[in-house]
Amino acid sequence: MKDFFASLPTGKNDKPLLFATGPLVYDFHDIDGLYFMLDRRLSGCLILMWAKQMDDSVKGKVTLDGKPIEGYVLESMELMGNMWILGVPLRGLVTEYAKNYTLHVEGFRDTDGNEMNPQDLTVTGIDREEPKAEYAGHEAIALQTAQEGIVLLKNQNDVLPLKRNTTLNLFGKGVHEFRIGAVGAGKINPRYSTNLAEAVHDRTDYTLNEELSVFYGCDKDLIPPEDMLERAKEKSDIAVMLITRAAGENMDCSTAKGEFYLDDEEDVLIRKLTDTFSKTVVILNVGYPINVTFAEKYKVDGLIYLGYAGMLAGPALMDILSGDVNPSGKLPDTWAQDYFDIPAAQNFYDCADKPRLDAECELFADTVYEEDIYVGYRYFTTFHKKPAFPFGFGLSYTTFVIEPESFCYDGENLTCVVHVKNMGNLPGKEVVQVYIGKPDKTLEKPERELVAFEKTKELTAGEEKELTFVIPKKHLTSYRGEDASYILESGNYRIFIGNSSEAPNCGEFYVAAEEVIKKVTNLMIPGREIETLSKRNPEKTYPKGKDSGVVEGKTTFQPYQERKKYPAVFHGEKPIQPLTYEDIKKNPENVDVFVAQLSVQELARISVCASAGWGMEGIGEAGKVFQAEGLNLPDFPVSDGNSGVNLNMKNIGMPSGVTICATFNKELSAKVGKVIGEEAKAFGVPMILAPALNIHRNPLNGRQPEYFSEDPYLAGVMAGEYSKGMESAGTASCMKHLMANNCESTRKRNQSIISERAIREIYFKAFEIAMEVHMPASFMTAYNAVNGRPTAADPELLCGLLREENRFDGFIMTDWTSYDTVDVAEMVQAGNCWITPGSKDDTYTSQIVDGVEDGRIELARLQSNVAYMIRTMIRFA
Ligand code: BGC
Repeated sequence: MKDFFASLPTGKNDKPLLFATGPLVYDFHDIDGLYFMLDRRLSGCLILMWAKQMDDSVKGKVTLDGKPIEGYVLESMELMGNMWILGVPLRGLVTEYAKNYTLHVEGFRDTDGNEMNPQDLTVTGIDREEPKAEYAGHEAIALQTAQEGIVLLKNQNDVLPLKRNTTLNLFGKGVHEFRIGAVGAGKINPRYSTNLAEAVHDRTDYTLNEELSVFYGCDKDLIPPEDMLERAKEKSDIAVMLITRAAGENMDCSTAKGEFYLDDEEDVLIRKLTDTFSKTVVILNVGYPINVTFAEKYKVDGLIYLGYAGMLAGPALMDILSGDVNPSGKLPDTWAQDYFDIPAAQNFYDCADKPRLDAECELFADTVYEEDIYVGYRYFTTFHKKPAFPFGFGLSYTTFVIEPESFCYDGENLTCVVHVKNMGNLPGKEVVQVYIGKPDKTLEKPERELVAFEKTKELTAGEEKELTFVIPKKHLTSYRGEDASYILESGNYRIFIGNSSEAPNCGEFYVAAEEVIKKVTNLMIPGREIETLSKRNPEKTYPKGKDSGVVEGKTTFQPYQERKKYPAVFHGEKPIQPLTYEDIKKNPENVDVFVAQLSVQELARISVCASAGWGMEGIGEAGKVFQAEGLNLPDFPVSDGNSGVNLNMKNIGMPSGVTICATFNKELSAKVGKVIGEEAKAFGVPMILAPALNIHRNPLNGRQPEYFSEDPYLAGVMAGEYSKGMESAGTASCMKHLMANNCESTRKRNQSIISERAIREIYFKAFEIAMEVHMPASFMTAYNAVNGRPTAADPELLCGLLREENRFDGFIMTDWTSYDTVDVAEMVQAGNCWITPGSKDDTYTSQIVDGVEDGRIELARLQSNVAYMIRTMIRFA
């Protein structure tokens, strides 16, 4: 490759040459592409490189098979060493498998004034991979997860399921912009994928209106010409429209039209369809909740939240549309009627009319969590605000009756016995949800909180099932800061059981005297007063957002006052005879002894990751343990992969986190983790950097699709199951990002200012519940600071909450390049074991060695950090 670059013409008088490093294959299933996360304009573009610096004031001409292409992107890319690229938007144009197209480029000029020679390049549509028998089991899980994660939101006049032998009139640019995954760390690289149009093709009982599909090659939400609409209507009187939105790492979404709200083209198209066709179904192929008031306004009959449903999104959606599979997905989030109905909207950087600040932005920002514990349905139910669709909601083609039979609180557990009966004519699954409304005493409480849920097996028509929920009292507590206690207050506890956060109140139990269930130490207390939302005075306390946003001139945060010190403890003693890695592999109880014999240099070397391939180099792993000389450590690459193994090799493509969560199926979540773990193992990757389970505080968070839910119990249980499944396959999991990583805008310089109660009841709670389900091998800290202290260097968070209070004994790593904004020695001293992605040279190791020398890092801390890492390597490598 080096020789190839060296052979490119770069001299002053050389004409600029456009090139690619391999055959030009366009993958029309990878809707946004690898570079979208850096520059949104590159969505759907084929990327070509220039051998020279280009003059972007000179317009060139680009055609595909003779047809002019508008909207190309000509720019220099920092990530590629400031190389100039040409991004050619080919979405909707290159649509056929293995077909060759001619891309003609001319007229571009370099900064030396040379005009290019016209170039013809052959672009080939990606080849279709046929499913392979050896992966059938894995892909069956991907399919089931998509089927069970799709949520039916509206089904007026029984528009769904669609009758057999119907023609599907698919409208909207989503026909070609059919998204199956998030961008960034949550991206999938599936063996193959099938979009909706292809899935219709693959069936014998439905036909695709091909003319419309070709029309939407325009990649716009245009209204087709009248005669085309007439022909479509003759085929079927049902219109199916796709609304699509991209989301993922590096940038947040906004309230601009085309993001949270419909854009004008979408709005006009929906109105036209509902006027023209007798029935309309809208599919939301979006990674985050959007405004759906159009469904009522235009009397849309069917509404489906598809999300990003992975490689088999198309067939899964067809199974739902046809009724082959009865929908059973439920919303893991409240869908507000309007963005500004969400109290967290007041304290979130919305770039609708401001610059979109990416992750590398150098501005400092504060995000004050004034809504406090009132996140998602906790707000909507307590403050009687009507959402568009409540948390936990999802329709079925059959009807269920949920009848609570008995409740018993015995002083330790609340036991609820519930009957579910399928009253309709079709088999289906239902999700029973138990919420508790705690009494307001010394603490005010949300009107209700989810404490248990269960999805039934498939119940045939008329079948009944009894479910028993045993809820331990620790899950009924609230956190009182005054005495640093998780308490069960005296009074009436109301029980709500049903199939959404609007479940009816069906009973109560009484706690006679207050009980302290767990006594802890106050941690991470914000250094300033936050006026938090209170139902005792909603008008005065409703979030105002005046203290949030970019703080001009700010270059650092004021860290909260530490309350507790965590002196490092390490008991290993140097052996008389040196131990090898092989020795400790056989006798892991000797890890501390092995570590005690290592020099500070060696310890520092192990603590710094050996840089990242990130899809560009090698297999594209996110990082790997450095092979320190003479230590014989095993190969230990780690890879991203909430929904697959994020390498540059094809593998499984599961739905994104929120869709996995929408299944509300614990067993299935474990199976998803197991499949990803097995595929990782086959690539020799012993650790996957997932699950990502940050709370959905605000739907515009770019990483919303990767994360699970607005509710800490649901997110914790589903992510814990996922992690358990993954580790059952012998692959280590990594829960991330600890914690309150709730926006991407200037994420390395953004501090979340949160009350201790909200930390313990919402933001840390998700991780705590997940650890109860399964103690993972590792944790990743977040980029952001909480209450002034970077999470990556926060001893109260890492040594206190995580290790001391929750007995976590795996290893902790930083998020990638956290050292851009956080001191390496501070991270190590706080208990962060692995500095990532690091480098092969001594840039970061020297900072650790210096830190030990000048006393900022205790040697015992460095040793215990390394011991945690090595124990994990022994378990999984
Ligand atoms: C993301 C992490 C990811 C890491 C490694 C970071 O940019 O925030 O979630 O695991 O990169 O790719």
